[in-house]
Amino acid sequence: MDERTTKREITYLRVSVTDHCNYRCAYCMPGGAPENLPRSEILSYEEIIAVVRAGAEFGITKVRVTGGEPLVRKDVVELVRRIREVDGLGEVCMTTNGSLLARHARPLREAGLDRLNVSMDSLMPDRFRRITGGGELSHVLAGLNAAENAGFGNTKVNVVLMRGVNCDELPQFVHFAAARGLEVRFIEKMPLNQSVEDSAPLFVGLDEIRRRLHNLHALERLEVEPCAPAQLRYRLIGTRGVVGVIAPISKPFCSECNRLRLSADGKLRACLMEDGHVDVKSVIRTSGIEAELLEAFKQAAALKPPCHNGHSSTLMSRIGG
Ligand code: 5AD
Ligand code: SF4
Repeated sequence: MDERTTKREITYLRVSVTDHCNYRCAYCMPGGAPENLPRSEILSYEEIIAVVRAGAEFGITKVRVTGGEPLVRKDVVELVRRIREVDGLGEVCMTTNGSLLARHARPLREAGLDRLNVSMDSLMPDRFRRITGGGELSHVLAGLNAAENAGFGNTKVNVVLMRGVNCDELPQFVHFAAARGLEVRFIEKMPLNQSVEDSAPLFVGLDEIRRRLHNLHALERLEVEPCAPAQLRYRLIGTRGVVGVIAPISKPFCSECNRLRLSADGKLRACLMEDGHVDVKSVIRTSGIEAELLEAFKQAAALKPPCHNGHSSTLMSRIGG
């Protein structure tokens, strides 16, 4: 058996519907906004649905719609509705920066979206503007309210903690989770598209986050699934709030990772950090035969790195953590 072939079940597909974003977060776009892909390179909704159908047949039960920022793509609500109609899917969620959520929350809910993750790296308007390259915090907060009013439960707020940027706000975020009765997840910064030297000074690790959480609030440790990205989750005792830590650097979850990623330009990737992929766009645009798409899923799953002690620990050492 190929050493990369694993028996783990792949059940989760992240679907990027656009490479565009209306924000410019430095950790995501360190070199500034990349040039947008030509329209013809981006999968149409028809094509995305064909891939999701093949995915469901392959065994995918959960789809997350992402970007870039998914809500900047025209008619994305319609895409959600059509994904929701695919047989075999248990859950359809979205990760968004929340900037356009206020007006989209209700239509998304009506289209059958189950859950939302909202990125929000600061609770201070000026700082938020600086981090996102011009974003308005009030729009995101309005988006969170709209989501709640539209009936979304279990909304999670993602915070990439960065030293000297926003890590002093950890107490405010804990308070926010407690007061709003939602889950805030602190994420270790990954050196994406960025040299490790540039990334390392900003890095805030799991141990430090855990220590600070324990000093701030009475915590009850929660059980987690082995494949969950947040391996550490706590209920804030006496509240409905939850805090979690996603530690891709200190505690890589690669060996448990059950996901594949479809990029906006139709590449099915096994891993965020590795380049191996299967070009499903060319499969669709040449044959379009469903059996071949299913084969593409098998090939992508076989590219999954085993990585118990693989590239992520390399990464960890490269980042000096
Ligand atoms: N490190 C960690 N998380 C990142 N994200 C994007 N870039 C990085 C990075 N360098 C995640 C954040 C953000 C979401 C859109 O992607 O969680 O909220
Ligand atoms: Fe990247 Fe999300 Fe920031 Fe947009 S909002 S720049 S996709 S991290």
